[in-house]
Parts: sequence; C-alpha cells; structure tokens
Amino acid sequence: MKGFETFKNLEELDNESKYLVHKAKEAAHHAYAPYSKFHVGAALMLEDGTVVTGSNQENASYPLCMCAERVALYVAATQHQGKRITKMAVVAHKKNHKELAAAASCGACRQVMAEFEERQRKPFEVVMHHTDSQWIKCESAHMLLPFVFTSESLID
Ligand code: THU
Repeated sequence: MKGFETFKNLEELDNESKYLVHKAKEAAHHAYAPYSKFHVGAALMLEDGTVVTGSNQENASYPLCMCAERVALYVAATQHQGKRITKMAVVAHKKNHKELAAAASCGACRQVMAEFEERQRKPFEVVMHHTDSQWIKCESAHMLLPFVFTSESLID
C-alpha cells in the first residue's frame, strides 16, 4: 500500500479490517451522544490480537465531550501498556442509526493518533468510513495530519 487505499465496499477490505469495523460498529452502540446524536465507534487491534474499543462520550458541558478514538487509545495505553497498535477502525452512525455516516477523525484525534505512533515507534493502519460510498485505509496515522506538531519541538 502506498499511503492510502480507497474501497467502494466494505467487502473489498481485508478480513482483519472488516472484523475491526464490525467491532467499531458494535462500540458505536455504547456511545453517549444525547446532544449531537452522532454515535461514533472506534476499535483498535493490538499486536497480540486484543481488540480495544471506544465510543464518544458527551457531556452537557459541551467542551468536555470525548471522541471515540481517544477513548479507545487511552484505554489501550492504560490497560494494555507496551502492546503496539497495528490497526484502528472508526465508524459513525447517522441519526437514524440505520446507515453509516462519514467518520473522518477530528484534528484533535489525529494529533493524539500521531503521538501514539511515535510512542510505539511503528505506524498503525487507520480504516475509516470516509464518505457515504467510500472506505479509506491509510497506512499510518501520520498521513492524516501533515506537518504534525510533535514532542521534538519541545526539546531544547
Ligand atoms: N466525534 C468522535 O467521536 N470522533 C471524531 O473524530 C469526530 C467527532 C464525536 C464527538 C461528539 O460527541 C460528536 O462526535 C459530534 O461531534
């Protein structure tokens, strides 16, 4: 894969990606999103085959809402320390809960994903349902955030 690939149908993706998308869809059902009604699920595959999921968790104090991707990443870092992430899948349900919406991870999540790659010194793939008719698979989270801010800037 050079950078990223796009797929018209989920069926065209590799089996592991399909499985992870399925887990992300399941996770989206656990979202707490009474304000946006936008239910997001994220699923991570770790190097030993463990799957860690997250869903968006909102709050009446809107800025406190947490995205599904970061919930999953922080759980992985806390409960599976030292295990590398190999792949991440992100999906979102439309308000009717029947169809998938475009789940393009927000900039904050892309920043956090990029630093997770740095921490583990290895890229992980990111699979997203990007538009109504297209899936996207990136070979690395860094690809999603060109000119990323990193810890290197903080070192004297
Ligand atoms: N959301 C995510 O969970 N992931 C993203 O990358 C984009 C946005 C959530 C945050 C909020 O609960 C809702 O979607 C609407 O922005």
